[in-house]
Amino acid sequence: MGNFLAGKAVAVTGAGRGIGRAVALACAAEGASVVVNDHGVSVDGSSPTSGIADGVAKEIGAAGGTAVAVADDIATMAGGQRVVDVALAEYGRLDGVVCTAGILRERMLFNMSEEEWDPVLATHLKGTFTVFRAASAVMRAQRSGTLIGFTSGNHQGSVSQANYSAAKGGVISLVRSAALGLHKYGVTANAVAPVARTRMSEGVPVELKEIGDPEDVAALVVYLLSERARAERITGQVYTIAGPKIAVWAQPRELRAAYGEGPWTPDRIADFLPGTVGTDPMPMLAHLEAMAAAAAHGARPNA
Ligand SMILES: NC(=O)c1ccc[n+]([C@@H]2O[C@H](COP(=O)([O-])OP(=O)(O)OC[C@H]3O[C@@H](n4cnc5c(N)ncnc54)[C@H](O)[C@@H]3O)[C@@H](O)[C@H]2O)c1
Repeated sequence: MGNFLAGKAVAVTGAGRGIGRAVALACAAEGASVVVNDHGVSVDGSSPTSGIADGVAKEIGAAGGTAVAVADDIATMAGGQRVVDVALAEYGRLDGVVCTAGILRERMLFNMSEEEWDPVLATHLKGTFTVFRAASAVMRAQRSGTLIGFTSGNHQGSVSQANYSAAKGGVISLVRSAALGLHKYGVTANAVAPVARTRMSEGVPVELKEIGDPEDVAALVVYLLSERARAERITGQVYTIAGPKIAVWAQPRELRAAYGEGPWTPDRIADFLPGTVGTDPMPMLAHLEAMAAAAAHGARPNA
């Protein structure tokens, strides 16, 4: 056992499997008391069971750590509140929350139903809000704490997962808003865009060139929860971790601006825009076009 998180209490959603499980185990191994939340659902969010969260809490206990299981659905306000309430009831404090709970319902946009859109947004985006909302009230009063959201490289866009991509883009904006709104209370907020071998990444339709294990992601999360990261004033950041690679994402900003004269009309914009501000090419679109060109020649490039 290490002591990177000695004396801290941390709640992890989606902690029954994959990355969340590795995060919960690593936090406990580094001295944190852990709330293990998992609704125990299948990849598409169906068939909940409480055994998944219980199993990880027991695994932590067996290894000499401290953990309690909460099987609630964090897509509900009550579920998010309960995760926080259990941390306070069991450990008397809450130093960090890590929101990894997630599901997938893949469909092309033109075929996507409300039943495929709503639960994905509810789990990823609202499920981060419910926990951040309850935790931030405690952390504001305590004047310290760390909020961690889970996003994806797919926040840039996705061919067949518009629901997931939109939710993950929303998580980044929520994290940045939390970083801004809670800065004066000593609370930090960051997002992680992982690439790791789990049941969720198994279904990715392209071969991933850079991928690691949930334990790599867990190490980054432990660091972000620690006083070492807080001393570096890390907040409002998005990090990717994929095997040996760690990357920080750019902050969104205007790329180019140009100023015209007089009131705009569509015609004047048509004359002005292409040669001044122009466009910013989409890397993912360029990649798609390269894949299509390679497929036409009988080869398939890696993602
Ligand atoms: N694995 C990757 O390469 C990858 C890439 C990009 C982003 N992510 C993100 O990382 C996070 C973890 O993904 P993973 O690969 O470990 O997935 P996973 O499917 O292995 O684990 C997700 C866990 O979340 C739980 N869960 C789902 N809905 C819940 C709810 N409403 N309440 C509580 N628990 C719920 C599930 O029961 C499951 O145990 C997700 O947010 C995912 O979108 C993963």
